[in-house]
Amino acid sequence: MASLDKKAMQDSKVYKSRQVFPQDTNHLGTLFGGTMMANIDEIAAICALKHANRTVVTASTDSVDFLKPIRNGDILTYIAMVSYSGSSSMEVCVQILIEDIPNNKQELAALSFLTFVALDDEGKPTPVPAVYPETEAEKWFHETAEARVERRKARRKESKETLQFISELEFKQ
Ligand SMILES: CC(C)(COP(=O)(O)OP(=O)(O)OC[C@H]1O[C@@H](n2cnc3c(N)ncnc32)[C@H](O)[C@@H]1OP(=O)(O)O)[C@@H](O)C(=O)NCCC(=O)NCCS
Repeated sequence: MASLDKKAMQDSKVYKSRQVFPQDTNHLGTLFGGTMMANIDEIAAICALKHANRTVVTASTDSVDFLKPIRNGDILTYIAMVSYSGSSSMEVCVQILIEDIPNNKQELAALSFLTFVALDDEGKPTPVPAVYPETEAEKWFHETAEARVERRKARRKESKETLQFISELEFKQ
C-alpha cells in the first residue's frame, strides 16, 4: 500500500525539455496547441503518479493559457508540480518556459492547471498524501489552490446539471 506521509512539492516535480520541430507547428509556423496539451497531460500525469505512488487518471483540465507564440526551433521546458492535494485528488500546475540558452534566460510561454485522481486496484478513488510547499513560489501556488478548488467544485456542479439537461433532451428526441 502507498505511504500517506506528507510529501514536499519538490519530491514529485517533473522537468521535461523539448525542441519544437516543423511537424509540431500550424500554418502560422507556431506550435500547434494540441501538441502542447498532450505534453502537458503527459508530464502532469507523471508528476501526480510520483506524488500518489499509484495509478492516476486525469479528472479535468481547468485551463491552458497560451501566453507567447512558440516558434519552430524554440526549446521548451515543461515543469510540473503538485500544488495541492485533497482526499484522492491532486491539483497539478504545469509551467511551460521558452529557453533562451545562449543568454541563460527563460520566459513563461504557457500555464496550465489540471486535476488528477488516484485510483485503487478496483479503479476507485483512493487517498493521496498531503503536499507541503518549501519555496516562496511553491507557497504561493499552495495558498492560492483552495480558491481554485472551490471554483472547480462549482464548475463540476454546473457540468453535472448540463449533463442532466442534455440526457433529458436526448430522451425526448
Ligand atoms: C475522475 C474519476 C475517477 C472521478 O470518479 P468519481 O467517482 O466521480 O469520484 P468522486 O466524486 O468520489 O471524486 C473523487 C475526487 O475527484 C475529484 N473530482 C472528480 N471529478 C473531478 C473533476 N471533473 N474535476 C476536478 N476534480 C474532480 C473530486 O473532487 C474528489 O476529490 P477529493 O477526493 O480530493 O475530495 C472518474 O470520473 C473517472 O474515472 N473519469 C475518467 C478518467 C479518465 O478516463 N481520464 C482520461 C484518461 S487518464
